[in-house]
Amino acid sequence: MKNIAVFASGTGSNFINIYNGLKNNSINGEIKLLISNNSNCGAVLFAIKNNIEYKIINDFRFPIEKNKEYELVLNFYRIDLILLAGFMKKIPENIVRLYKNKILNIHPSLLPKYGGQGFYGMKVHEAVIDSKDKLSGATVHFVNEHYDKGAIVLQKSLNVLKSDTPESLSKRILKIEHSIYLEAVNLFCLDKIKIQY
Ligand code: GRF
Repeated sequence: MKNIAVFASGTGSNFINIYNGLKNNSINGEIKLLISNNSNCGAVLFAIKNNIEYKIINDFRFPIEKNKEYELVLNFYRIDLILLAGFMKKIPENIVRLYKNKILNIHPSLLPKYGGQGFYGMKVHEAVIDSKDKLSGATVHFVNEHYDKGAIVLQKSLNVLKSDTPESLSKRILKIEHSIYLEAVNLFCLDKIKIQY
């Protein structure tokens, strides 16, 4: 059984979807912990309601202490896999190093398009609509030291409609996110993801 930690700062729909997906399907993984920087976000409220352990890690004056705290907490829960699900803070380098090829992220575009610093949330969908792209979608990828640049695990596209607004597009893409993220978690838990360089 893989021990999973989810990092989330917002609504938490991906976190909730994965939590329910793991519970209702025979997937070889269990969410042990939610880490957030925002004690009022939807993800934390869901964790409280469902008795999922959670930890709020906020910016301390000394980043080294904060980074050490991530490490201690992840060690304590013997975490095998970290899932970033709308986490608005940069993952410290010590964690990226320690969990090489063990951190996944979901991004609401067809990476490498519309990835990197500054492309988050509605900004991604606005850029797709402004560029009149015909396709968009979502990507699950491994996290390395560069924003949205790690190896791609799964990607699924949809047609951008003429009538789409950034909001309507984001809603349809969120459904894709939910389905491919759970699928990627399942593959990871089955040790079926191989990275070739
Ligand atoms: C999603 O759009 C995801 O692609 C991005 O952050 C958003 C999180 O949404 N990384 P939610 O909190 O899971 O609903």
